[in-house]
Amino acid sequence: MAEIRLDKFLADRTKYSRNEVKALLKKGAVRADGIIITDPKQKINPEMQEITLGGKKIHGGEHIYLILNKPEGYICATEDKQHKTVLELVPEELRRKDMFPAGRLDIDSTGLVLVTDDGELAHQMLSPKHHVPKYYLVTLARPFEESYLQSLADGITLSDGTACLPVQARQISEKRCLVCLHEGKYHQVKRMFASLGNHVEHLHRVAVGSLVLAPDLPSGGHLEVFHKDILKMLKAESFSAMCEQIMLAFSSYLINDRH
Ligand code: URA
Repeated sequence: MAEIRLDKFLADRTKYSRNEVKALLKKGAVRADGIIITDPKQKINPEMQEITLGGKKIHGGEHIYLILNKPEGYICATEDKQHKTVLELVPEELRRKDMFPAGRLDIDSTGLVLVTDDGELAHQMLSPKHHVPKYYLVTLARPFEESYLQSLADGITLSDGTACLPVQARQISEKRCLVCLHEGKYHQVKRMFASLGNHVEHLHRVAVGSLVLAPDLPSGGHLEVFHKDILKMLKAESFSAMCEQIMLAFSSYLINDRH
């Protein structure tokens, strides 16, 4: 990456405006490789130098990719008057102006959400053309019935007549299963199980593409991932290979019976 002006770098990579950045520089809050810089016109190379603001390292990459383990009570939006948004889970020093959650989980669903400022990648991930598979651990109110497997594989018709694409599923325990969706209709998992005469008590998204949520990432925690991990999100693995990986990764989650 070529050299760029320090004030532009900070305004692009943080929530602050160019004027706010100038004020912070004046206060001596910004350092390049440990040396306080007050001149907004100072040129820096973000790949070679460590830039800190208020002691916190500012991420130098063009785009940022964060995997969140969304807790209940947060919505996947950039702002909301009523509810907390997943952006509030991103620490200050990693926040950027154009950040957004790529994809949605309901307020009461938990698990993997990608937050990024890379619009092009998000478009690829969300485009129906790419059919990026998403995996959910589903906890039902009543026992999972074997007949569900065929109904899901045939494609469920929702109560309003909407036809769903075939869904792969595996029963894990009496009231638990893992499902893999290749599309994202509104409240789809909940509505599919309602059509089958059951009720979803809890949904935890555990993987997107071939990227499995780190099982030790605490609820509300974040993990920075890089382009190679993101490529995993765009790559589909076989359902059985993903089931093995997910079951292994989430064995203690399942034993602890969190939901
Ligand atoms: N399907 C749902 O019903 N809810 C979600 O949050 C995700 C998929």
